[in-house]
Amino acid sequence: MNYPFEVKKLSYDYNALEPYLSKEILEFHHDKHYVTYVNKLNEIIKNYPNLQNMTLEQLLTEPEHIPSEIRTAIKNNAGGVYNHELYFACMSSADCELPTDRLALAINASFGSIENFKAELSSSAINQFGSGYAWLILSNNQLEIISTPNQDTPIAPTVTPLLCIDVWEHAYYLQYQNRRPDYVENWFNLINWSYVGARYMSVAKEQ
Ligand SMILES: [Fe+2]
Repeated sequence: MNYPFEVKKLSYDYNALEPYLSKEILEFHHDKHYVTYVNKLNEIIKNYPNLQNMTLEQLLTEPEHIPSEIRTAIKNNAGGVYNHELYFACMSSADCELPTDRLALAINASFGSIENFKAELSSSAINQFGSGYAWLILSNNQLEIISTPNQDTPIAPTVTPLLCIDVWEHAYYLQYQNRRPDYVENWFNLINWSYVGARYMSVAKEQ
């Protein structure tokens, strides 16, 4: 039984990501926005016992098992939970070294260099119209950068999200106001590459 879904605590303090991300933002983002998605998801499936055994990933990848009247609500709220948990897990208070492992080799092979990767992910994050996320995903064993609107999640049997940046205004407005590019630039200092690298290793097949 996966139900009820539980709020995952941050693995760092609220002020641990300063100066790049303020304590105030992280507190609101985790304790209000993310928690609301967890609560709403639990509320939606309260009366659907068949869904209470499904994992978060199953709720997002098996819409055929979800009654049509709650399919959109599940997509939005399970997505809101999944996306925020990945976003928070992909950040770290440590001085994040650039990747040097197999993920680094794969990034170089796919994008030419870590600088190109950063430029492409930045562009994707900055140009996502309105609310959404930019992602590094592994799709059919290939690294790709994409963006998605709202709380859509790029997850499927052959697609695994590895890293995401939340570009909803609630993720940066209190500190950066309308300056999304500055937020994106600073966020690169926070990427927990050891977590992202381990995530990659858990799903990537040898090329
Ligand atoms: Fe968010």
